[in-house]
Amino acid sequence: MAEDGWDASVVEAIVQTNILGVLRVAAAFLPMLKGQPDAALMATSSNLAFVPRADFPGYCASKAFLHSWLQSLRHQLRHVPVEVLELAPPYVQTELTGDSQASDPRAMPVAVYVAEVMQLLEAGDHPRGEVLVERDKARRWAERDGRYDATFAAMNPA
Ligand SMILES: NC(=O)c1ccc[n+]([C@@H]2O[C@H](COP(=O)([O-])OP(=O)(O)OC[C@H]3O[C@@H](n4cnc5c(N)ncnc54)[C@H](OP(=O)(O)O)[C@@H]3O)[C@@H](O)[C@H]2O)c1
Repeated sequence: MAEDGWDASVVEAIVQTNILGVLRVAAAFLPMLKGQPDAALMATSSNLAFVPRADFPGYCASKAFLHSWLQSLRHQLRHVPVEVLELAPPYVQTELTGDSQASDPRAMPVAVYVAEVMQLLEAGDHPRGEVLVERDKARRWAERDGRYDATFAAMNPA
């Protein structure tokens, strides 16, 4: 999306997949999960939910939506044995943005990310329902720690 003109259809597609896709799956499964003694629903946001990259505005905003929505859902289900988890990955070596991401040395190897996530899940180490690996934490806590502007500037050079 350029500042001098943008195509709303790109954002519409992101909303359909990243937001409505998650909401529809949750709506379909929650009635079944509520009948289970110990269930969990996990949705994937991104650490770009916490500090956006300005060249992917719709994507980052869709993940911020999920972060907010999952907090509310978790609160609504606080008396129901359905755990609501948010997986907020850092930059990981998948083909999400194309072939080059899968071998980008700045991205976390998938196996390393999965191993750290599984450790956190097995240990129940996901405060507030957020599954955050070490690499997530700088962005997750940037605002709380007074580093938001510096973090945004580092991610979005002038
Ligand atoms: N990799 C990262 O750096 C990173 C960082 C933060 C968050 N995430 C999030 O992690 C999740 C998984 O991404 P990934 O990195 O594993 O990327 P990926 O390897 O490209 O996987 C994306 C998956 O989404 C499916 N998909 C894409 N568009 C769809 C649609 N319209 N309807 C249904 N399925 C669709 C793809 O299905 P097909 O294979 O059939 O196309 C594929 O299975 C995403 O929510 C992404 O936003 C990734």
